[in-house]
Amino acid sequence: MIESGNTLGDLLGDDDVGADAAQWALETQADPDTFRAAMGRVVGSVTVVTTRHDARAWGMTVSAFSPVCMEPATVLVCVNARTVTAVDIHRESRFGVNLLSQDQLSVSQLCSRAGAVKYVDDHVVASSQLPAEVASPVLRNSLVTFDCEVTEARTVGSHLVVMGQVRAVLAPDSRRPLLYGQGRYQRSVDIEELLTMTEAAA
Ligand SMILES: Cc1cc2nc3c(=O)[nH]c(=O)nc-3n(C[C@H](O)[C@H](O)[C@H](O)COP(=O)(O)O)c2cc1C
Repeated sequence: MIESGNTLGDLLGDDDVGADAAQWALETQADPDTFRAAMGRVVGSVTVVTTRHDARAWGMTVSAFSPVCMEPATVLVCVNARTVTAVDIHRESRFGVNLLSQDQLSVSQLCSRAGAVKYVDDHVVASSQLPAEVASPVLRNSLVTFDCEVTEARTVGSHLVVMGQVRAVLAPDSRRPLLYGQGRYQRSVDIEELLTMTEAAA
């Protein structure tokens, strides 16, 4: 609650660790467990990669998403090579990347259940409401959807690294992003907004 006397640190629950108290934990080998634990500290956006599976919309939750370059507009996703999604991408050479909003937590949960059926027909925008060129399923309430055509794909260890040229961008309206990190779903806090509120309450 914003009350007079609250500092921004109070509201954000700052870790009050002095520089002297900081400990360095250093692993000299990047074994899988160490790497997994380290990557668990990354907080980032959540996407659902959509494909066509048996002529229906299918979705898989993916946080390994990155823009690659602006010209040509290219993005990258990494998906476990054993997933239905990886097989669909190989076959169709087409996939959608739906950047999720906070309103889509349940879709993210649905699309991350390993081995489960992940049809998302109930969550997509009707094709009659989309431009005819859009080939990939578009999830409702996404922050943005990139409709992509595969330009390159290679296997690295357990994962398929896929580059896709963006053929269409759909950004319906502005929503708050869904985040994931440190083993749980999170939501963003607008620090500037909080600052203004604490100043107003002072
Ligand atoms: C927040 C979150 C992010 C994930 N990110 C990835 C990812 O980037 N790549 C990946 O292969 N799996 C990722 N997963 C796991 C997959 O969603 C899950 O294993 C997949 O849906 C299994 O598909 P399958 O049933 O076709 O095997 C993530 C799961 C969650 C909950």
